[in-house]
Amino acid sequence: MTAAGKTTEVTLTIDGRAAEVPAGTSIHKACESVGIDTPTLCWAENLTPVNVCRVCVVEVEGSRALVPSCARPVEDGMVVQTDSERVRHSRRMVLEFLGSGVDLSQTDELAHWIDHYGADLDRYDQPDRPAARIDEEPKIQDDLYIRDYDKCVLCYKCVEACGDDAQHTFALAVRGRGFDARISTEFDVSLPESACVYCGNCIGVCPTGAIQFKSEFDLRAAGDWRPEEHDITTTICSFCGVGCNLEVHTRDDRIVKVTSPADHSVTHGHLCIKGRFGWTYVQPQ
Ligand code: SF4
Ligand code: SF4
Ligand code: FES
Repeated sequence: MTAAGKTTEVTLTIDGRAAEVPAGTSIHKACESVGIDTPTLCWAENLTPVNVCRVCVVEVEGSRALVPSCARPVEDGMVVQTDSERVRHSRRMVLEFLGSGVDLSQTDELAHWIDHYGADLDRYDQPDRPAARIDEEPKIQDDLYIRDYDKCVLCYKCVEACGDDAQHTFALAVRGRGFDARISTEFDVSLPESACVYCGNCIGVCPTGAIQFKSEFDLRAAGDWRPEEHDITTTICSFCGVGCNLEVHTRDDRIVKVTSPADHSVTHGHLCIKGRFGWTYVQPQ
C-alpha cells in the first residue's frame, strides 16, 4: 500500500509470461494469476504458510536455491521458472521421498502431479526394510474421527488449524524428532481425554486423510466410498447466530460429512463441533 492508500503493483515474468500482481502476493498466487498451476501440500488458502513440504518449489533467477512459491512474495522484475528441468526434478524427488515413507493413496490433490512428473512412489522401497515411516493401526477413539498416521506427511496444517490460525485450542502438536516425529495430543493421551473440542478443523485441512471423518473411514473400509456420487448442498448452520456456511455432503439421501468453504469471509472454512458434527440427529445411526 502506498501513502495514498493505493496498492503497489509488482511486475514479474513467469515462464516467459508477464504478470502484474499487488506487492506482497506470493509467487504461487502470481502463477495462478497467469494460469499456471502449482502443486501444493502444506499450503492452504486459510492457513499461514509453513513451507515444509517443498512440492511447490520454483526457480528464481539469481537465487542459488529453489524457493517455495507458496511462501515467497514476488519482487519487481523477478524472473521465475516453474517448469525447468531443475524444478521438475526437485518436485518429482520430493513426491518420491514422501511416497517412500507415507501412504499417499488418499492424497487427492497430489494424484495428478504424481502422474505429471512420473514420480515412482516405490523408488526407495527395499526388500529387507519396510518403507513405512510409521506402521501403526489407525487411532479410533470416538465416533467422530480417526487418526491414521501412516498417511501423515507432517505438513503441520492440523497443528495450525488447532492452534493460532483458527481454533486456539492447541490440542495437537508435533512430538518426537526425525523419524519419530509425529502429530500427537498432549502426552499422547487419547483424543477424548485431550484438550480437543471436536471442531474437526484439523480434518478440514488434512490433505492426506491422516485425520478423517469416522463416517468416511467406515465407508472406505467397507469399499463403499464414492465421492463422485455426493451431492453437496451449501447452507447456513442454524445452531447459532454466527451464520457459518456449511457444505452438506449427501449420498442416497444420507449425510456423509460436513465441510465449509475456505473462502467464506466469516469462517474461512473452519467450524465448531455443532456445525461439523451436529447432524447425526437427522439420521440416528
Ligand atoms: S477437532 Fe479441533 S480441537 Fe480437536 S484436535 Fe482437531 S482442530 Fe484441535
Ligand atoms: S495429520 Fe494431516 S494435517 Fe496433520 S500434519 Fe499429518 S498430514 Fe498434515
Ligand atoms: S506447499 Fe509450498 S512448501 Fe509446501
